Amino acid sequence: MVGGFFGDEGKGKVVAYLALKKKFSLAIRGGAINAGHTVVYRGRTWKLRSVPSAFVNPGIELGIAAGALVKVDLLLREIEETGSAGRICVDGMAGIIEDHHVERERSSDHLAKTVGSTLQGVGEAMVDRVRRVLRLARDVETLRNIICDVSEKANTYLSEGRDVLIEGTQGTFLSLYHGTYPYVTSRDTTASAFLSEVGIGPKMVGDVVVVFKSYVTRVGPGPLRGELPVDEAVRLGWVEYGTVTGRPRRVAPFDIELAKRAVMLNSATAIAITKLDVVFPEVKGVRDPAKLPGRVRKWIDEVEAALKVPVIMLGTGEEVEDTVYLGELE
Ligand code: IMP
Repeated sequence: MVGGFFGDEGKGKVVAYLALKKKFSLAIRGGAINAGHTVVYRGRTWKLRSVPSAFVNPGIELGIAAGALVKVDLLLREIEETGSAGRICVDGMAGIIEDHHVERERSSDHLAKTVGSTLQGVGEAMVDRVRRVLRLARDVETLRNIICDVSEKANTYLSEGRDVLIEGTQGTFLSLYHGTYPYVTSRDTTASAFLSEVGIGPKMVGDVVVVFKSYVTRVGPGPLRGELPVDEAVRLGWVEYGTVTGRPRRVAPFDIELAKRAVMLNSATAIAITKLDVVFPEVKGVRDPAKLPGRVRKWIDEVEAALKVPVIMLGTGEEVEDTVYLGELE
């Protein structure tokens, strides 16, 4: 599961929904703490920065990838808040973000002003990893009881015919390689990158779900085609605030050309479209495909025809269960 635009597509909700609906044995999150995934389930809201959004299904084991970066205090707090102790483990090779990484980012004008970084220390920790001086999870005493070999576990389960869900972070166009450089994050954010972070080869993949929002948002600077003036965005009700930074997000209408490129870069086999109720208020809370109004069905059909990939689910509200499920995964 990966984001198709600039992050904030609503991946947390999509992952949580699939985790409840389908039979996964293991769910693994990659990425780092700059990405906040929001899950609203049974009236409670979680803003997750490390724990996989699939935690909502207590029957699923959880993992944090070797290529991920965590902050120890934040991770332990999230494990407690989500009640995932006992079924979560962190790959010993995952990287550790320390306070000095955050301080280094805060003192960089380039990151703060030009790139518009979330300043969570992620990029500086990546720098240290490349320099081979970063501390890894296996070196942290307080994590000792939750360290495991996530790649081994994932590949074992796959070889037994059990399903594994990988939760990517951010969005395709924040990719260090394929995004709008230099206005990007410090890692690749395409599907291949998250496979690599976990340690799963490309031939093991059944489906690649790309998540798009019904409109495009972006926090921080960088190109945004079709960007709307703030008063127009406010009038439409499309203005949002960053999960991690609280910054207002810039807004543009759904961009089919960008979506086509995301489909290409990720080899998408299925698409999820979130926040449909923000653009089409009449679908708020709809869960039955038969209740989708004609103009909405028409728009979905047009998107499918242009992208040549099936749209399998639509978000119609904040709650995980406010979802219209249209198709099947493999
Ligand atoms: P950094 O990865 O925190 O250094 O931020 C670099 C750029 O990526 C900035 O424009 C951030 O706003 C953006 N960014 C990083 N993580 C996320 C995310 O999870 N959602 C949306 N934007 C993000």
